[in-house]
Amino acid sequence: MTDFKKSNWAEPDFSRRFVESADIAIVERKRSHAIMRSFFRHHFAGKEPVEILDLGCGDGILTYELKQTGISLSATLVDGSEEMLRKAAERLKDYPDTRTVRASFQEVIAGKAVAGDFDFVVSSLAIHHLDMAEKRELFGWVYGNLGNSGYFMNIDVVLAPNEALETWCLVLWQEWIAEKKALEGITGDIYDDTMKRYKDNRDNKPDRLDVQLEALKDCGFHDVDCYYKYGIFAIYGGKK
Ligand SMILES: C[S@@+](CC[C@H](N)C(=O)[O-])C[C@H]1O[C@@H](n2cnc3c(N)ncnc32)[C@H](O)[C@@H]1O
Repeated sequence: MTDFKKSNWAEPDFSRRFVESADIAIVERKRSHAIMRSFFRHHFAGKEPVEILDLGCGDGILTYELKQTGISLSATLVDGSEEMLRKAAERLKDYPDTRTVRASFQEVIAGKAVAGDFDFVVSSLAIHHLDMAEKRELFGWVYGNLGNSGYFMNIDVVLAPNEALETWCLVLWQEWIAEKKALEGITGDIYDDTMKRYKDNRDNKPDRLDVQLEALKDCGFHDVDCYYKYGIFAIYGGKK
């Protein structure tokens, strides 16, 4: 069982470093958000107000991005980190129809944190901190807390199907960082150890994409698909 309090995310400095480096260290982060906004507009325009749940919200970036579509929504943002929730509340201070809940995924799964009939459940780069058994439980919880025809979308890192592909995916990631550094005029070796730190971090428990898609189907989701993939970075989800 993953214990949030023993993870790096319980340290405010770790959270701060993630927020500062995210746009460089995470492959096509802005593109991922654009894909999520497009999906949201396509499925929810005209069906307002939309009830959103943002799991592992960090500094509230996903909810903020959804707000930029102009579609009326109210949002519940959940995270285990007080530091992240403080940042999320600051980012969303001009949007009164948002609320933050401090809870671990384990508390969410156990029904101790939030409950609802959400229209769109989103998550980004957080669910890979759970092992596969916990992921299954969380997917089941999401299914149970979505309204009929509601959608789930997860932007996350996944494990490549074998070691050879995993090695290439990490090279691809390295190439992304080099390209991004050149574009931003960043010199020196800063960010170059991102892949090693990711692999060495015991909090990261990515699982194969196909296994996660099957787990969603097992929960009852349909229209299950991978909407985007770039190396280990993927966007996938399904419909209730
Ligand atoms: C990489 S950050 C991503 C934040 C944000 N979603 C984004 O895309 O920028 C991972 C987030 O998941 C949260 N987190 C990690 N493990 C968790 C757990 N077991 N329960 C609740 N939150 C967790 C961390 O506190 C952190 O805010």
